[in-house]
Amino acid sequence: MKSRIQQISSEIDSITISSLDELEQFRIKLLGKKGLITELFNDFRVVPVEQKKEIGQLVNQLKNKAIDFIESTRLKFKSSSNSEYIDLSIQQEFQDFGTRHPISLIKNELFSIFHKLGFVLSEGPEIEDDWHVFSALNFPEEHPARDMQDTFFIEKNPDILLRTHTSSVQVRSMENDKLPIRVICPGRVFRNEAISARAHCIFHQIEGLYIDKGVSFADLKQTLLFFSRELFGPETNIRLRPSFFPFTEPSAEMDVSCKLCGGKGCSVCKHTGWLEVLGCGMVDPSVLELNNIDSKVYSGFAFGIGLERLAMLKYGVKDLRLYFENDVRFLNIFRNYL
Ligand code: PHE
Repeated sequence: MKSRIQQISSEIDSITISSLDELEQFRIKLLGKKGLITELFNDFRVVPVEQKKEIGQLVNQLKNKAIDFIESTRLKFKSSSNSEYIDLSIQQEFQDFGTRHPISLIKNELFSIFHKLGFVLSEGPEIEDDWHVFSALNFPEEHPARDMQDTFFIEKNPDILLRTHTSSVQVRSMENDKLPIRVICPGRVFRNEAISARAHCIFHQIEGLYIDKGVSFADLKQTLLFFSRELFGPETNIRLRPSFFPFTEPSAEMDVSCKLCGGKGCSVCKHTGWLEVLGCGMVDPSVLELNNIDSKVYSGFAFGIGLERLAMLKYGVKDLRLYFENDVRFLNIFRNYL
């Protein structure tokens, strides 16, 4: 009996199993009704009493060894990728699909529109210094324009702050990139504003900057017209209204014709037929000089787009706070935009 036990044990050690079927055959051969190990247990009855303890232990060890071998081989097949084994007994919870956030959707759409015009992505830090957010952009110290952007300062240090616009990334581009520059700078920005349906202290921007020889206001206008028609449809018109930013001269705000009423006037456009979309202008020559770019040779334009506002116009979202609440009922509305 000892030699049969030994023989089966070495068979387990030396066998190679190449499929789950083979494994099952082997299991039956050892542990099935007429299996070799089952037979050992049957024959155990005739083992002389004085050997029962020793043989009993050996048979039990053999049985455990066989079971371990079969289970571990089964697991190996289960985890290997070319396994045909499907465990139908595993309970599956239904996993709902996520949706893209509307801010990500609009951001991706803008990326692809500006990509067609040769703009590349540029990113920078959210915690910035005064130079990149204000000084390099022609905001003199004590200038009231700094109050336009209610700034969050870090630990009372007036030099370290949360960026109030991604124009700071444009400054970093001017510092680091070779000319000509054609970048879009997406990112979160922070302003100390009361939270309401139309304002939030955190929001997202995409700002654009193009600097080359001979860039003119006409280039800016055509770029913005192309962008507006790509985003809102081919019938869209734009208009530019004079405005002020310390870093652009001349500066403008751009409106698009209201898509809902086709420009006739409705409650969304407050009966004007126009919707305000972005700020823009020609880069002020003094900003170029502050960033070591020769303003007699180079010129450029810049624009800044608020993504929450744009997504409100595009998707008809009425309350800006919805973007930040992660309510799946809101997010589910954008399922079809994936
Ligand atoms: N940085 C401006 C803002 O956040 C937007 C802007 C960018 C305006 C570029 C003009 C040119 O308000």
